Amino acid sequence: MTNHVETQDASVAGEATRGFTEILALYHGFGRGAQRIEVIENCEFKLKPGKLTVMIGPSGCGKSTLAKLLAGYLHPDEGSLLIDGRHIAGPGKDRLMVFQESALFPWMVNEENALYGLLASGQVGAGARQRVTALMDRVGLGRFRHKYPGALSGGMQRRLEMVRALVNEPALFILDEPFRGLDAMTRTLMQEHFAQMFEEGRRTALFITTDIDEALLLADEILVMSSRPMKVTRRITVDVPRPRTVAGMIKDERMKHIKVAVTKALYSEAIKAFDGSSRAVAAAGFEKFLDTTQ
Ligand SMILES: Nc1ncnc2c1ncn2[C@@H]1O[C@H](COP(=O)(O)OP(=O)(O)O)[C@@H](O)[C@H]1O
Ligand SMILES: [Mg+2]
Repeated sequence: MTNHVETQDASVAGEATRGFTEILALYHGFGRGAQRIEVIENCEFKLKPGKLTVMIGPSGCGKSTLAKLLAGYLHPDEGSLLIDGRHIAGPGKDRLMVFQESALFPWMVNEENALYGLLASGQVGAGARQRVTALMDRVGLGRFRHKYPGALSGGMQRRLEMVRALVNEPALFILDEPFRGLDAMTRTLMQEHFAQMFEEGRRTALFITTDIDEALLLADEILVMSSRPMKVTRRITVDVPRPRTVAGMIKDERMKHIKVAVTKALYSEAIKAFDGSSRAVAAAGFEKFLDTTQ
């Protein structure tokens, strides 16, 4: 037992040194002339190594654009993105992204899918295969190693994608609404799985969501984003011990306070998407909602 704890502590200390992320004076938009839209404007924040930061913001505000900039699929119009002091110049093995859309190859068996990143870079040794086997067992996919993704449910496919990302041991793990579209029960199970996997590895992670309860369940820190053009409007620390459960969160007074703070910050941004009289109606509904939370 003592050994187990010591091993975990050592890996926590090791991981905590990787993945320090800095976003500085970032601007990004799409299109030209009259078609131009500004998506990110003077956005700045840092991700602490070994911490799970959750980014929450109204839909369409620019979260996926930011994820793509971090992954190196897009280049910013202005500003800097750095990981461990190095500028992000394109896609790299130090960053891995899990999307809401499945990125599994239907013609490859699940184990090969999980190894894909390593196969592509010619790094598959016995150690990597063992890691995949252990991780697949860990998330309940052991029996499906030699089956195809088509034989997996939606929740199982997301778990396999997480195995694929984790086996690469990225410095920064980017998750863009990975559980969107799953039914409520599967989603809760996935959140618990993910929280546990995170706790074991303590890899620096940016988890994007539009779901307040998901943010509260997972986050060390929450970044509340503005409506478009996007920047950080509030940064909220969730200093509530893990493991957290949905049931436990309902009773926890600190969690209730944090939920009200996140909800206020998020709704005051979401309301900006309404105009004229519809904004007044939305604002009144919001005030009523806040009454019930206090
Ligand atoms: N490649 C693109 N070309 C033009 N507009 C885009 C492109 N990608 C995203 N957008 C626009 O940028 C805005 C932000 O999109 P996105 O980053 O996907 O938001 P979110 O992930 O927060 O819902 C939206 O208005 C979207 O239509
Ligand atoms: Mg998105």
